[in-house]
Amino acid sequence: MYDDQEFVEQYYNGKKELFKTHPLRVLFFEITSRCNARCEHCGSSCGDFVPKDEITGEEIKKVLRDVAAHYDPKLVMLNITGGEPLVRKDLFELMDYATKLGFYWGMTTNGMLIDEEVVKKIVDTKMYSISVSIDGMKELHESFRKVPGSFEKIIHGLKLMKECPSIGVLQVTTCVNKKNIDQLEDIYQLLKELGIKYWRIMEVDPIGRAKNNDDLLLDADGENKMFEFMKEKQLTQNEIRIDYGCAHYLGWNRDWLIRGKPFICGAGTMVGSVLSNGDIFVCPDVPRRPELIQGNVRKDSFVEVWEKKFKPYRKVSRTTNSTCKKCPDWKICMGGAFHTWDFDENRQLFCAREKFKEMYEFEKRVLENQKKNKKKDTKKKETKKSNKKTSS
Ligand SMILES: C[S@@+](CC[C@H](N)C(=O)[O-])C[C@H]1O[C@@H](n2cnc3c(N)ncnc32)[C@H](O)[C@@H]1O
Ligand code: SF4
Ligand code: SF4
Repeated sequence: MYDDQEFVEQYYNGKKELFKTHPLRVLFFEITSRCNARCEHCGSSCGDFVPKDEITGEEIKKVLRDVAAHYDPKLVMLNITGGEPLVRKDLFELMDYATKLGFYWGMTTNGMLIDEEVVKKIVDTKMYSISVSIDGMKELHESFRKVPGSFEKIIHGLKLMKECPSIGVLQVTTCVNKKNIDQLEDIYQLLKELGIKYWRIMEVDPIGRAKNNDDLLLDADGENKMFEFMKEKQLTQNEIRIDYGCAHYLGWNRDWLIRGKPFICGAGTMVGSVLSNGDIFVCPDVPRRPELIQGNVRKDSFVEVWEKKFKPYRKVSRTTNSTCKKCPDWKICMGGAFHTWDFDENRQLFCAREKFKEMYEFEKRVLENQKKNKKKDTKKKETKKSNKKTSS
């Protein structure tokens, strides 16, 4: 079934090895669940409740010291998220502390509070990467995020940051849904005008406020449209690097076409987090079920928990059911992403095989043609070479 069975075996063995070694590479810090927006799709339902017991600055610093003392901080990317990270007044003091300990840090933000003063702090604290959310052109973005007048502020912030050479990655993230699927070209043109080099496209997942929201969630046609758009752009331009978010195995052929490699869900093997109440967890988008929470930094050492616990995430069978067990894609997908696993029904909410049945054959043909063309090219080159030799 696969073009390269050997690769599949190596990949599968690599994943099993990862479950054993679990090197911490990304540490998400959800530093608050407060937010200045009320997005229709918010997976963490931010703004719906007043958070109690938000993690304090001292508690955050303790975790940073703990991690830096046991691992090489240069290898653990600190990803600050929320809620909206910029509503937290001590954010930059904490990030200055992190940078001095040796971490690289980045943040995901709605961008509404980025002005000259914030950009100065971003530069002073050596922020390496930033991802700013844009979910549509002005009118749609503002109605989707429920903050009139926010679009211009975000664009202003992006322009300011564009002038800062110390920012390694200035990225825009778009969460694709039924409302904005037809604006992808407009957003692309906007980013091109702004000179943005990185664009992360992801799909709204059925979590938080987007759960069961058929006005937002893409159907298979919508998904095909989104992937066609990405494929076309990836093939025809190289001004903006377009990545598909860290979500879902898309099927063998489609993953190679869109991502250039198969998807791997690093929850609990490479990716850990501290939530806004101090809970020790994996990616903040995974359902926060009590049995999945591994500890709390108020009573536990993060490193000790990372080393000794996280067992549910480090089993080959961590996301499986009878369908997955029999699936020919199992060794690559392994049940897909943890954050879309339905723990009540024991099933994957986003199963590529279920979703893209007909696309499989189509994409297989595309890849086979690519292979054939490559072979033809090599043959042509070889003939040219030998012709040259004979004539000389
Ligand atoms: C939770 S937000 C936190 C950072 C910031 N407040 C923002 O909106 O960018 C992080 C990212 O998750 C995305 N997100 C929120 N709800 C989502 C959902 N239901 N499915 C997929 N991504 C979602 C946001 O659009 C944003 O890009
Ligand atoms: S997606 Fe971000 S900006 Fe929107 S409500 Fe959630 S945390 Fe706030
Ligand atoms: S059946 Fe399971 S292993 Fe196969 S593609 Fe779907 S989620 Fe992945």
